[in-house]
Amino acid sequence: MTKARKAEIAKLIEQGKWIHVTGSRKNIMQTEFYPVVRDLLRSDAVQELSAFTHHKMTTRYQHCLNVSYYNFKLCKMLHLDADSAARAGLLHDLYHYDTAKYTRSFPAVRHSRNHPEVALRAAEKLIDMNDRERDMIGKHMWPVTVPRPKYAETYVITVVDKYCAVIEYLLPQPARLRRYVREKLFRQ
Ligand SMILES: [Fe+2]
Ligand SMILES: [Fe+2]
Repeated sequence: MTKARKAEIAKLIEQGKWIHVTGSRKNIMQTEFYPVVRDLLRSDAVQELSAFTHHKMTTRYQHCLNVSYYNFKLCKMLHLDADSAARAGLLHDLYHYDTAKYTRSFPAVRHSRNHPEVALRAAEKLIDMNDRERDMIGKHMWPVTVPRPKYAETYVITVVDKYCAVIEYLLPQPARLRRYVREKLFRQ
C-alpha cells in the first residue's frame, strides 16, 4: 500500500468513515456485517468501551469489534446464526471498569468468571436479546464459567474470543519492536 493511500485511510478513520478490525485493513463499513451492528456501534455504552485498555495492546471497543466481526464471519461460514453472533460478540465484554483494578479489589472472585455476568446484565439493559445472544455473552468464558453452552454459536465465540486476544497481542509487536529500536538504540 502506498504512503498516500495509508494517509487517505488514516483521514477516513479519523472522520469515522472507515472502521477496521485487527488483522485487516478492510473498511468493514462496506461489508454485510456493518448493518447488523450499526445501531450498537453508535450506542454510548459501546462507544465508552474505547476508554479502557484491553489485552494490554488494544481497547475494549476494538476487542469487542474484533470478536463481533470474526464471530460473524465464522458463524456465516458454518451456516449458524451469524447476526446473533455479531451482536453478542460486540456486547460480550460490555463492562466499564479497569480489569486490573477489579482484580486488585476483589481477588477472591476471579474476573474471568465474573465479567460475563456483568456484561450480560449491561447488554440486557441496552437491548432486547434472543436466548442465543444471552448464551453467547454469559458463557463466552466457558469452561471458566461452569454451565455448558447451549448453542453451537456459543462454542464458536469461546474460540473467537481467544483467537482475537492472540492477534491483538501479537500483531502490534513488529511495530513496537521497530519503535523500541529507533527510540532506545538510535535515539531517534
Ligand atoms: Fe470476556
Ligand atoms: Fe473478550
